[in-house]
Amino acid sequence: MAPEKTFYLETFGCQMNAHDSEKVIGTLQRAGYAQVDSEEEAGLILYNTCSIRDKAEQKVFHRLNDYKALHKAGKRFGVLGCVAQQEGEKIFERAPYVSLVSGSASYRKLPEMLSRLEAGETRITGLDDRQTDETFETEFTARQNPYRGYITIIEGCDKFCAYCVVPYTRGKERSRTSASVLEEARRIADLGYSEIQLLGQNVNSYRDPDGKLSFAELLAAVGQVPGIRRVRFTTSHPRHFTKDIVEAIDAYPQLCDHVHLPVQSGSSRVLKAMNREYTRDWYLERISWIKAAKRTISLSTDIIVGFPGETPEEFIETMDLLAEVQYDCVFGFKYSARPNTPALVMIDSIPEAEKAQRLQVLLDRQREIQRANYAKHLGETMEVMVEGANPARGQIAGRSSQNKSVNFTWPQPIAPAPGTYLNVRITATHPNSLVGEAV
Ligand code: SAH
Ligand code: SF4
Ligand code: F3S
Repeated sequence: MAPEKTFYLETFGCQMNAHDSEKVIGTLQRAGYAQVDSEEEAGLILYNTCSIRDKAEQKVFHRLNDYKALHKAGKRFGVLGCVAQQEGEKIFERAPYVSLVSGSASYRKLPEMLSRLEAGETRITGLDDRQTDETFETEFTARQNPYRGYITIIEGCDKFCAYCVVPYTRGKERSRTSASVLEEARRIADLGYSEIQLLGQNVNSYRDPDGKLSFAELLAAVGQVPGIRRVRFTTSHPRHFTKDIVEAIDAYPQLCDHVHLPVQSGSSRVLKAMNREYTRDWYLERISWIKAAKRTISLSTDIIVGFPGETPEEFIETMDLLAEVQYDCVFGFKYSARPNTPALVMIDSIPEAEKAQRLQVLLDRQREIQRANYAKHLGETMEVMVEGANPARGQIAGRSSQNKSVNFTWPQPIAPAPGTYLNVRITATHPNSLVGEAV
């Protein structure tokens, strides 16, 4: 194998990026490249980047800087993903040893871009910027996760929340046909996967271009693919969260009893300033539908503290919402001002220390809520899918349908393979995980 036909790929950011990387790896392998485990071994070094908060973006430039000396040894660099789309050709100025800059909406052109790279071109760009209607589909996806198959059903975002880069980095909203999604689901099942996760920045904004299936109907159809036992979907936007999604979860046990529904803030005033297009009451109405389901559906969310102008009282409204909803998991973030976004012109008046303090208060409170929520599982026997072994603790790691992490002991000498389903009796609980024994 010629060294220039090897690549190293590191992924930052969300599940969409992680799955894009699986498709990029498959595309490179198809073009004759072999994946290696370190920058030093690779002819081509690729970073699939995230720009959601300033820290995420800085990480990429640090990483590029750490390895730039490798350029002298003839190695080539490529920047993919959201920082690539956001910064475009400016990356060549900041890091002149980079040869390729491509946003996710241009990955279908990767084979062509690779040929140009091999021919010695050094400033190759794939920048689509809300122009494209196409989605990136490939049958050569190199699935890296041994127990969960990802399927992107909708790409891009048209919501333009005031703080967010995604509409600028991922292009406009475009869905795949339900027929192609179902075909991919069947292919995944044939590979031996029993869990599928449907992906989209706003997965429930899905609109079948053929007009055949609604999002809820697509969920049900994926759940009925022979061999599929668990279907997850993320991320749902409250604006498009319809009752039939809950009805589908009720009707099909294959649909996992977990909904991730980012609220961002508990204050209707802040939500309006964020351009979230719903109020606190609208959000809580959707929560009440979810809570009225036949199965207990686990809830998780994302919250931003310290959005420009958020008053202490408005922050308390978010704290009250936590107490009211009783989430099983909260991803909390300090507001980070991002390029090109409407919130950039708002005065970011809350000092960093105040943002940090609000986040700490929020996470401390949430930890206590979770401690109580998780404790309710004590003594319960639940179905767990094995994800891996935790040799340090002599335990098997797995996950419940509600997406809760379960660490359990196993009596036999040979550990069950990832993807195996077992019944586990819960013997202890923590705020973030459950402990048990296989029964
Ligand atoms: N499409 C999803 C969220 C995708 S981004 C939704 O609308 O819910 C993931 C999370 O990052 C967001 O939910 C938000 O909480 C956080 N986030 C996005 N932009 C941010 C910013 N500028 N500063 C801090 N957090 C941000
Ligand atoms: Fe960003 Fe809002 Fe789109 Fe989510 S819905 S990706 S937060 S713009
Ligand atoms: Fe980050 Fe882009 Fe995902 S900004 S969170 S990698 S969509």
